[in-house]
Amino acid sequence: MEQSTGNWFPVISTRELRDKPLAKKRFGQALVFWRDSKGRAVCMRDICPHRGAKLSPGHIKDDVITCPFHGIEFDSQGHCARIPPEGERPIPDDFCVQTLTCFESGEYIWLWTGSDVDALSLPEPPRHSDMDGLPYGESTSIWPAHFTRCIENVCDFSHLPFVHRTTIGMFRSETQSNVEIEEIDQGFRAYLIEENKPAQCLEFLYPNLWMLKISSGFPMTAMFAPVDEHTTEVYGRTVYRSDFPGKRILMDLYTRISQFLVFREDWPIVAGQWPIDVKDVAGEKLLPSDAPVIAYRKLLHAHGNGHAGSLFSGPGTDMP
Ligand code: FES
Ligand SMILES: [Fe+2]
Repeated sequence: MEQSTGNWFPVISTRELRDKPLAKKRFGQALVFWRDSKGRAVCMRDICPHRGAKLSPGHIKDDVITCPFHGIEFDSQGHCARIPPEGERPIPDDFCVQTLTCFESGEYIWLWTGSDVDALSLPEPPRHSDMDGLPYGESTSIWPAHFTRCIENVCDFSHLPFVHRTTIGMFRSETQSNVEIEEIDQGFRAYLIEENKPAQCLEFLYPNLWMLKISSGFPMTAMFAPVDEHTTEVYGRTVYRSDFPGKRILMDLYTRISQFLVFREDWPIVAGQWPIDVKDVAGEKLLPSDAPVIAYRKLLHAHGNGHAGSLFSGPGTDMP
């Protein structure tokens, strides 16, 4: 079996990827996602090796993506299938687009941060067991901050009565220091203890999946997709149990409104934190109430602080 060191990284929602190519910037690189005729997700660099046009405005037919500029076709492995302007001339061996290993799980499309290999030869990505198979509403928002700072923010109970004093932190005590951490496979749970029992529980799964369980109400999840060093696209989901026609539209709306109200209070503060990437932090004075942040940093450290392996570098990085 082929060996590849890396980890899975969810980067877009399954719902976004339909029958057309989808352009997304991730890890500072312009990527295009599409589906082959069997519905399998494909991800490749969004740049044609011919003369640099974006492939994403092209079209998909018969398991190839066609560049909109001169009609050159590439298959799901990134190999060139046809060069119309050259007729029957042979296709040069190096005429290909770089592909990235993709997998669909938990209704996200995941990328493998190591070298491109067969996804089935790799371990399955982690998932929040509590929401398996349940319907959910979804909405996205853009935070102008590094994804590691965004994740720390949602793992932090103690900012709630200050940053969210008019919304979800309104009735909270300023003292939120009684936090217990439970290490779990590929992540941790943090319990906020009030009156000797857990009042809230959040679960974090490496590298970027978060879930908040509250005793009453809907579980919320968030996936933090790195757009570039300064930008994160947050995929918020609200899980619900009973379903009826139109409920998903209502839950999408509920998720959008709650994200708008709460996250707009978070990101101006998170965007101003320095250094921008948690891996560069030195000398911060962490407190016992920062226990979930400490647990997150431990996880980052255990994974070598690499975040996304080679994906944050290489040709095409920082393309618009
Ligand atoms: S730039 Fe893509 S076919 Fe020419
Ligand atoms: Fe917050």
